[in-house]
Amino acid sequence: MNETIKILTEIAYMVSAVTFILGLKMLSKPTTAIKGNIISGLGMCLAIAVTLFNPVVESYEWIIIGGLIGSIIGAIAAIKVPMTSMPGFVAFFNGTGGLASMLVGWSDFHVTYTGKGYGSYSLENIVLILATYLAMLIGGVTFSGSMIAYGKLEEKIQGKPILFNGQQLVNAIVLGLGILIGILFFMGPNSSFVYPAIILLMVLANILGILVTIPIGGADMPVVICLLNSYSGMAACASGFVLNNTVLIVAGSLVGASGIILTAIMCKAMNRSLANVLFSGFGSSEGAVSTSVTGEVKALSPEDAYFVLEAARSVVFVPGYGMAVAQAQHVVKELADLLEKNGAEVRYAIHPVAGRMPGHMNVLLAEANVPYDQLLEMDDINPIIDTVDVCIVVGANDVVNPSAREDPKSAIYGMPIINVDYAKTCFVLKRSLASGFSGVENPLFFKENTRMIFGDAKQTLTAIINQFKEAQE
Ligand code: TAP
Repeated sequence: MNETIKILTEIAYMVSAVTFILGLKMLSKPTTAIKGNIISGLGMCLAIAVTLFNPVVESYEWIIIGGLIGSIIGAIAAIKVPMTSMPGFVAFFNGTGGLASMLVGWSDFHVTYTGKGYGSYSLENIVLILATYLAMLIGGVTFSGSMIAYGKLEEKIQGKPILFNGQQLVNAIVLGLGILIGILFFMGPNSSFVYPAIILLMVLANILGILVTIPIGGADMPVVICLLNSYSGMAACASGFVLNNTVLIVAGSLVGASGIILTAIMCKAMNRSLANVLFSGFGSSEGAVSTSVTGEVKALSPEDAYFVLEAARSVVFVPGYGMAVAQAQHVVKELADLLEKNGAEVRYAIHPVAGRMPGHMNVLLAEANVPYDQLLEMDDINPIIDTVDVCIVVGANDVVNPSAREDPKSAIYGMPIINVDYAKTCFVLKRSLASGFSGVENPLFFKENTRMIFGDAKQTLTAIINQFKEAQE
């Protein structure tokens, strides 16, 4: 009977794994993304149900208590957290995944060490020791690193890199100690010093997570988020080996691999190598100093902006984090509809790191029912941007900062941007001349063909829409 249940469980896990892979594939296209999410979700439900009904589960009380606490926190967060704080909360939940893996490693170690011990160096035991160690090490790094990323994204701690003398040496010593504990654990898993050493390992892993995340600041957070996401997958995969759970191994590997691919995409989008992102302390005050930006700012009222837009034949919206803050996506779409009705061709240019999480702008625009075929990637819009009559920058800043292209002294020099300043006219909708997330000043605001329309993006767009409507009456 037990053998039959085991086989059925493995088959169900296999089905779940297939739904995860299918779901991931479908998530890569906006048209199939919702279905992909549902399919993967159903696969996860199946995996949980099969695990819960497995006869090896002896008692349900702790599972129910844990499930209830987690569900209550998740539900409150989902209802209360505003959309603008989602990136921070994604980082937060990512960290809790790391914490869970670390605790799985710890609990299995505690039970084995204080119980039957690790036994001989059979392949099974070697895998268990290695997986337990990695789950605690990577899980700890993921937890504390994600909490720092959360703090930075939510501006609870300073976004600028925190650097100190000998930082790399301290990191190397902490990592070295962690590796040493791993070797000792492997060589004598039942020795008396191993128990306190493993506790020290978890402390060191958490310290390491903090140390490797604090020197990363400003515009490099996208890479860090993706990397931590990948770590959480690897930690989950290791805990899958600890628990001998196939579906956890598969799901963890998928998260780990997709996180690494996303990390590479983000690095490419910023024209940086991963090593440069992790170790250069980009955006610190000791880093490059941008040439100071001065000039004359030409402000425009929404009323005057209407006259320019009324005559425009091609308009490109370039959304950024400010669109998310203002929740302006619906009015962007409303204005786009009016412009199209007026005979203009409307498109949207999306920078890969616009906003605060991968795909942030795509999600917001999809929420406003913007047709997918109007969304252009940076590499598709840049070659034709000089033919565009008006680029409307809605709360974007770093991703349209020409100093990344023009000023070798700038900290963001070399990062590809959307060349909005090459359009015939560029409207910038934001509240002030303040710099963006990276803290780098933006010469776009002073360009000859730039018009600043100061104010909350939603209010500005609503005012322009009203002009269109009045003209139609
Ligand atoms: P940012 O450079 O962050 O600039 C956003 C701008 O929006 C601000 O300068 C702000 O100017 C304006 N703003 C805020 N509230 C507004 C409102 N209510 N109405 C109008 N404007 C408003 O945005 P970006 O261009 O999207 O660049 C993203 C940055 O975040 C990059 O540096 C990127 O590396 C980083 N980052 C990205 C991610 C991912 S994965 N996408 C993750 C973490 C960090 P005012 O205050 O003057 O209004």
